[in-house]
Amino acid sequence: CSSQTTPVSRDWQTVGTSAELDKTGQLLAKNSPAGPVLVVGTSKGANLTAVNPTCTHAGCTVGWKAEAKKFACPCHGSEYGVDGKVLKGPATEALKTYAAKIEGNSVVVKP
Ligand code: FES
Repeated sequence: CSSQTTPVSRDWQTVGTSAELDKTGQLLAKNSPAGPVLVVGTSKGANLTAVNPTCTHAGCTVGWKAEAKKFACPCHGSEYGVDGKVLKGPATEALKTYAAKIEGNSVVVKP
């Protein structure tokens, strides 16, 4: 079998630089090619977390609470785990998550 697949996936979208991410441990890209993305972690950490930070309740932008390791919505208090699952309502649906990784000096995500 020698079907040729392109080694470079074009699905990965750059949302910022690793320097930006490392500065605060999070990176919010409101208008990335993949839509709004919030990446949490550092370029040195093994696992990056990326979600669509649009609250599933009424569309506010959730923030990352590093100490509590969860996403919290400023509008009506919904909370989501690092995996996007709802921890506390009124939201009932999980945040959309993305795969994320560092590529060179860029942070890239895949919807
Ligand atoms: Fe997030 Fe209502 S919009 S809790």
